[in-house]
Amino acid sequence: MATAGEKWSAGATKYDHRVAKVTGDGGEALIKLVDKIKPFDNNSKVFEAGAGTGATTELLRKKNDHMAIVAVDPAAGMLEQLKKRDIKNIEVLQIEATEDHVSRGLQAGSFSHALSNFVLQFVVPRAQIAVNEMFNLLQSGGIIGNTMWTNASVGEPWNIACKNLDPNFERVTSAFSDALRVGEDLERLYKAAGFVDVHSEEFELLFKFPSAEDYAEYFLHAQNPPFVAMQSSWKGKPEDVKDELVRVAKEQYNDGKFKMVMASVVGRKP
Ligand SMILES: C[S@@+](CC[C@H](N)C(=O)[O-])C[C@H]1O[C@@H](n2cnc3c(N)ncnc32)[C@H](O)[C@@H]1O
Repeated sequence: MATAGEKWSAGATKYDHRVAKVTGDGGEALIKLVDKIKPFDNNSKVFEAGAGTGATTELLRKKNDHMAIVAVDPAAGMLEQLKKRDIKNIEVLQIEATEDHVSRGLQAGSFSHALSNFVLQFVVPRAQIAVNEMFNLLQSGGIIGNTMWTNASVGEPWNIACKNLDPNFERVTSAFSDALRVGEDLERLYKAAGFVDVHSEEFELLFKFPSAEDYAEYFLHAQNPPFVAMQSSWKGKPEDVKDELVRVAKEQYNDGKFKMVMASVVGRKP
C-alpha cells in the first residue's frame, strides 16, 4: 500500500497550481492569530509540520527575514515543489508527523512556534502522536497552531452528483477526517498533550477553480488523496460521474467556487 508521502507526492504539481492558493489564505490567518499571541521576531525558531509545497512556509519567511524555519513533510514530491519557491535560509526535512523528531536531529524544547496548516486531519487516527511531538519540540511558553477544515464543501458536489445518479448512494460524510471535525476535537488533543490556553477561531475562505469543468477534472484526475478516497464510494467508474459533477458544480457552486470554513487551533506549552 502506498505511504502518505507517496500518495501526496503523486499529485504535488497540480496541488500547487490549484490548492496552495486557498491553503495559503488559511496559513495567513493562522500566522496572524499566532503572531498576536507570541509575535514572530528575529529570535523565533519555527517548526512547520506537513509544509507541503510551501504556501505557509513562504508567508512565514515574509513575516520575518531572520527567524529560523524548519519545514518538514513526508512527501518528497511536495517538498520538490516547496524548494522551487526558493525560500531563503530554511531547513527542509522529509519527516512524517508521527515520527520521533528528536531521533531525526531536531532538538527537544528548542522551538518558539510549532505550526501546521491543513495537515492533522490526514494524520488521523494518529494525530495525538503528532501533537505530542510538537509539544516535545517546543520550549516552555512556545505556541502551537494548527489549521483544519470544519466545512470542506469542495467535496460536496461528489456526494450530490452520485446521489443524483444513484438514489441508493451513501454519501461520504466528510472529504476529510470525521475524527477531527470541529476545533474542539483538536483542542482535546492539545489538552491531552499538556497545552494550556487552548482555543480555536473559525475563518471563511473561498476555494476558487477557474470553472466547473476544471474543478471536475481536478477532483477526478489530480490524485489529491482526500478526493481519491471519496471516489472509492462510487460503485462504478468515477469518470461516469463527471458530467453530473460538472453540472452540480456549475449550478449549485457558482461554477466551481466553494465557501469553505477552517479553524485555527492554538495553545501554549506551560
Ligand atoms: C492539504 S496538504 C497541506 C500542505 C501545506 N501545509 C499547505 O497548507 O498547502 C497536506 C500535507 O500533509 C502532509 N501529510 C500527509 N500525511 C502526513 C503525515 N502523516 N505527517 C506529516 N505530514 C503529512 C502531506 O504530504 C501534505 O503535504
